[in-house]
Amino acid sequence: MKYALITGASKGIGKAIVEELAARKINLLLVARSEDLLQTLTMDIQARFGIKADWLAIDLAQDHAAGKVFQWTKDNGYAVNILINNAGYGLSGQFEKYSTDEYTQMMQVNMTVPVLLTNLFIPDLKRNTPSYILNIASSAAYQAVPGLTVYAASKAFVLSFSRGLAFELRKSGVSVTAVSPGGTDTDFANRAQVGAKAVKAGEKLNMTAEAVAKLAVDALFAKKTEIITGFVNKLGAFLVWLLPKKLTETTASGIYNNG
Ligand SMILES: NC(=O)c1ccc[n+]([C@@H]2O[C@H](COP(=O)([O-])OP(=O)(O)OC[C@H]3O[C@@H](n4cnc5c(N)ncnc54)[C@H](OP(=O)(O)O)[C@@H]3O)[C@@H](O)[C@H]2O)c1
Repeated sequence: MKYALITGASKGIGKAIVEELAARKINLLLVARSEDLLQTLTMDIQARFGIKADWLAIDLAQDHAAGKVFQWTKDNGYAVNILINNAGYGLSGQFEKYSTDEYTQMMQVNMTVPVLLTNLFIPDLKRNTPSYILNIASSAAYQAVPGLTVYAASKAFVLSFSRGLAFELRKSGVSVTAVSPGGTDTDFANRAQVGAKAVKAGEKLNMTAEAVAKLAVDALFAKKTEIITGFVNKLGAFLVWLLPKKLTETTASGIYNNG
């Protein structure tokens, strides 16, 4: 029996992707830290959609987290043919506001875990074709964002990693899709501690997690290599490409650099 494994499945975009896949009758493996949320959601989707589902509560910022997730699937005999690297978060403000431990943990969740999970699951994905990898990047992948500097750099990494891997795997039956949401109504802004200006900008422009999840899952099954969600975010990425970097970085800094 085949499963989709999704990190960051407890809330936000990840939870909406869970709902979207469950509605398409896909069996699911949910991974995040919030045990209560995972357990409730797993029971709920099993009852509502008649699919198989299981959950693993784990802090992906801890050492050997990717290996533990992989081993859990092996111990339970779960064959993964869809891997969704969605867990991630930002830290906003001046670069020196955060400690080396805080950056180590964020970089592990945003970059190291997606690479290591992909590396561990590649043999299974190649055995279980057609199979799919979906990596959640961000509109922040397309420019430097002062005030979210390390986060934006981590998402540029996710985008570049996805594109390189998609090309390497193009004849393997394993597709790789990078989805870049712009502002989306989730717990992201709260966890990143973004300031009032960013929250206010979000109130006008944010998409819902459900809309982002539908576009992401459609892109995954269409085997698209890269999408940006929503017209406003596509336009934003185009303007970033077109305009002088100093201008786009000054604008971003005005929104995110809350000191
Ligand atoms: N919202 C936006 O505006 C936006 C825009 C562009 C890209 N994104 C990206 O979208 C993805 C999903 O974020 P979201 O907006 O849905 O935010 P969210 O509501 O805060 O959800 C983040 C998810 O990641 C999980 N997570 C965070 N740290 C974790 C850790 N150390 N170990 C295990 N799981 C962890 C959280 O679960 P637990 O708390 O239960 O661990 C949660 O399920 C992220 O990669 C984010 O960078 C978001």
